[in-house]
Amino acid sequence: MSSSTSLNDAPVGIFDSGLGGLSILRHVRAQLPHEHLVYVADTGFAPYGDKPEHVVAERSLAVARFLVERGAKAIVVACNTATISAVRLMRDTFPDLPIVGVEPGLKPAAALTRSGKVGVLATERTLAGAKFLQLRDQITQATGAQFLLQPCRGLVDKIELGDTDGTRALLQRYVTPLLDAGADTLVLGCTHYPLVQATIEDVIASAGARDVALVDTGEAVARQLVRLLDAGRLLRPATPGVPARLDAYTSASATALSAAFNSLIGIDPPVHEATFGAG
Ligand code: DGL
Repeated sequence: MSSSTSLNDAPVGIFDSGLGGLSILRHVRAQLPHEHLVYVADTGFAPYGDKPEHVVAERSLAVARFLVERGAKAIVVACNTATISAVRLMRDTFPDLPIVGVEPGLKPAAALTRSGKVGVLATERTLAGAKFLQLRDQITQATGAQFLLQPCRGLVDKIELGDTDGTRALLQRYVTPLLDAGADTLVLGCTHYPLVQATIEDVIASAGARDVALVDTGEAVARQLVRLLDAGRLLRPATPGVPARLDAYTSASATALSAAFNSLIGIDPPVHEATFGAG
């Protein structure tokens, strides 16, 4: 086997602070059904969104290192907070590794809005990040769209717990003022939020708002991964008799992550408990 063949066979690493990355993983599996995947849910350290930037950066780097040690040929940072805080550091640390990040979809939202007002739902850490604010300023300058930033403190915790009433109550609190202010487009700027899209739609409907567009960049992130793997000649071809594998790791309970895989995307991969870095 040539070395390039064994690299083609290496897995793609995908990580998030918890379950949010599953909203990206489902697009990756759809677009790249032959790739082996390793998913990390850093649930023991979640949420990332209320922690200082350097803490999120160090932790993200530790998780990336874990994935590299497991032979990852590329990494998807399936977390807006980790991308805003750490993607530059990760690219500096692993300059030869294709790394795909996820950022709130401000550009597609600016193209969609008719009222010129776009609500952005994300973690506090994402919305305070210099990289995010630069992006916001650029797109505002280029398009004139106005972005109403809504930090969603506590929402990731409720989603992680599967607390549907708590999730709905917080969404009501965060989404309604954006609609009242005239937003007709909402950016789901945290990968956990597409997992509760039906509840977001319910909240919008019960506020009496119509034709509100929701922007989720999961599909575009998977497309970017396809492009990078293709450009690096890293794609794994269909291999008869050797189906794509998915292994999952968590810094909390394997049983809880297994249950989440099952209920959110209907699959049952092997889940292992692990520690990442010092924390
Ligand atoms: N899914 C992460 C994101 O996209 C959530 C971060 C958190 O743990 O607070 O931002």
